[in-house]
This record gives sequence, structure tokens and C-alpha cells, in this order.
Amino acid sequence: MEIRKLNTNEEAPLQLLLLADPSEKIVRDYLKRGECYIAESGEQMIGVYVLLPTRPETVELANVAVMEKQQGKGIGKKLVVHAVRNAKAKGYKTIEIGTGNSGIGQLALYQKCGFRINGVDRDFFVTHYAEEIFENGIQCRDMIRLSQNL
Ligand code: COA
Repeated sequence: MEIRKLNTNEEAPLQLLLLADPSEKIVRDYLKRGECYIAESGEQMIGVYVLLPTRPETVELANVAVMEKQQGKGIGKKLVVHAVRNAKAKGYKTIEIGTGNSGIGQLALYQKCGFRINGVDRDFFVTHYAEEIFENGIQCRDMIRLSQNL
């Protein structure tokens, strides 16, 4: 498996990106403003993340996703570790990530990769998404914000 930046002439893997964020409008906005990286196995794109500059010296890790069949094999962790190193190499001082309160696996993964919780955006998903989202039998209502210094 190789992780590389998506070339400008390549189509972004929208189905993969939508696994991490159900809103196509929000995903397309991320793609316009950020840099898309893909994990590739042979010809197939099996994972993705987007690095999105937000404030001076700060970048957001958005839309980390791994193809359903390939989940649970360590690819998500490789993508997050790659993103952190990549952000540091680009000179950013802080990397941020946000995930829903119902994302138990995501919260485990990000903390295992050095992120710490620094805030909760209460009712973020209720306010910004038209459909109710459920995961692990929990309604996704609040955005848990995490970050790490680089
Ligand atoms: N409790 C404790 N640890 C857990 C856990 C749980 N419930 N669920 C996952 N983990 C851990 C794993 O054990 C692993 O850590 P380890 O390597 O120390 O064992 C780590 O989290 C991640 O495992 P990995 O196999 O690398 O993850 P993955 O390839 O399945 O990718 C996602 C993780 C989240 C990217 C993937 O599940 C996905 O694409 N989900 C849908 C999209 C999504 O929700 N994206 C995030 C948006 S915020």
C-alpha cells in the first residue's frame, strides 16, 4: 500500500470521502480548499484524507476514511500517522481533527495517534446536517474537537 497526494488531473474518491462525511456539499468544499491524499493498493484507492489549512500554522485533518472491506487492518492508523508527519513537514504547528460523539472507534484511533480532546461543539451535527446520524446506537449530536502540537 502506498499513500500519495492525489494528482490534479485525477478524480477524488467521492464514495470513500462520503463515508467520513455524509454531506457531498461539505466534502466538495473540503476538496476545493484542501489537499487530498490517497492510500492505494494496486490500482485501487482504499483510503483517503484531506489536509485543510484553517488558521495560520494550523491545519485540519478532514475526511479520513478507509474502504469498508479494508477497515480494521491498520490502514486508518497509517493514514493518520502519515497526515501528522506530512503536516509537520509542511511547517504547521498544530493539527486539528473533529469527530462525532458517537464515533467510538475514531476517538480511540485519534487518541492513539497523539491527539487530545480540547473542546466540544454541542449540537454541531443537529444544527448543520439535515438528516439525523446514528452510529454505535448513539445519536451523533456533538462535535468532539481534538488537536496535537507538531
Ligand atoms: N476501542 C478501542 N480501540 C479501537 C476501537 C474501540 N472501539 N475501535 C478502533 N480502535 C482502534 C484500533 O484497535 C486501532 O488501534 P491499534 O492499531 O492500536 O490496534 C485503531 O483504533 C484504528 O484501527 P485501523 O485498523 O487503523 O482503522 P481503520 O483502517 O478501520 O480506519 C476509520 C479507521 C475511522 C478511518 C475507518 O473505520 C472508516 O473509514 N470509517 C468510516 C469513515 C469515518 O468515520 N471517518 C472518520 C470521520 S471523523
